[in-house]
Amino acid sequence: MAVDTETFRSVLGQWPTGVVLVTTTAGDGWHGMTASSFSSVSLEPPLVLVCLDTRLASHRLVSDSGAFGISILGRDQAELGRRFAGRLPPAERFQGQEWLTPRTGSPVLANALGWLDCRVVHAYPGGDHTIFVGEVLAADTPRATGPLLFHSRTWGRLADPLPDRVVLADTGLAAALERRGLADGRLLEAVRDAGVRTRVRGGGPGKARSVLLDSPAGPAPGPGGVIEFPYRDPAAAAAMVAAARAADCTAVGRVFDAFAADRRAGTLAAVGELLAAGCDEIALDEGGEPASPLAVREILGDAVSQARQTPVRVRLTDRAGLGLANALTAMKSGVRHFDVTLGGLDDGLCSVDLLFLASRLGVEGPADREALAAAAAELETACGEPLPGRTRALGRTAS
Ligand SMILES: Cc1cc2nc3c(=O)[nH]c(=O)nc-3n(C[C@H](O)[C@H](O)[C@H](O)COP(=O)(O)O)c2cc1C
Repeated sequence: MAVDTETFRSVLGQWPTGVVLVTTTAGDGWHGMTASSFSSVSLEPPLVLVCLDTRLASHRLVSDSGAFGISILGRDQAELGRRFAGRLPPAERFQGQEWLTPRTGSPVLANALGWLDCRVVHAYPGGDHTIFVGEVLAADTPRATGPLLFHSRTWGRLADPLPDRVVLADTGLAAALERRGLADGRLLEAVRDAGVRTRVRGGGPGKARSVLLDSPAGPAPGPGGVIEFPYRDPAAAAAMVAAARAADCTAVGRVFDAFAADRRAGTLAAVGELLAAGCDEIALDEGGEPASPLAVREILGDAVSQARQTPVRVRLTDRAGLGLANALTAMKSGVRHFDVTLGGLDDGLCSVDLLFLASRLGVEGPADREALAAAAAELETACGEPLPGRTRALGRTAS
């Protein structure tokens, strides 16, 4: 005797899947539904399959049109998954989104993780479903972000693992000392000796030093150094990357106010342009507008996926007391590179605090926390006032 429907459903519910929209033409219009029975079949020729319930309108329309589109949904597109699973009547499902009709006329979602435009080449009976096999005529991956998942009748996304280690650069100390009229040589040296790249003013020897330049004509550090530059437009970014290459330096494009309200689209566009310009690292800088863990998560989730192999670094502040929460969120979004400031001077996220957080999370921080805590103590004496960094006193004891 065959297994009963409820048992069968609950066992299949244990199988996690991605989620696609299967779309096709319907007379003068479009029709679409949510599906998880999508699979690749063959590479040469490129074939995919989807299993459609014979009672559904989509089944008849795919049979009639001989074509279907597949749009793979991203982790933030569960609402579209629900909508195309029956939450909205068919006529309203396509509203408010951009759709493309590449070859067959079937619509595909312009900002899907990936889409395929297919011509039906086989239709096999499969009980109350039909297995439609489609030859892929056109395909693209317009958006890089995590996938939407479906498991046990629940929408989900991949968990956020912590990085194995964090790497620090001090981008705030030199400028903070200059603002206070304090000499910087010894302290910057101490920070570098502790294993932290430091931003300096002007040129000079390269290794473990970065400079922030406004134009390609600025004083580059020596070979092996780092040239940072603020993102303005694609042409300026390309010129700065060329200057960094000529100086045998790493090129870091920096997007300021990256986590400000309503900045998501602008920040992601800038990241795209910096990648196209060939930057070695992309820096997202909190700038003057305070970041929230929600904004950090939303923007970094996409920026890190978009950058793929290119490191994304972040500069966070502790202005609103959310520095470490934002740093944890950044780590869980796949960031390993942090721009910090010794002692947390001028609201920069404190290097010792960040290393303390990393150690408590079991994340390696190759910089020497004790040496940084000692340098911060020296800095506090030089400033003549307590520094904002919170865990310095724990620097020697806690691990
Ligand atoms: C996550 C998810 C996956 C689904 N996968 C399939 C599937 O693979 N095949 C299918 O026939 N129906 C599937 N459905 C059900 C259809 O999406 C649903 O019946 C839809 O309303 C059909 O729309 P239509 O009647 O307008 O064609 C799925 C529903 C959900 C929520």
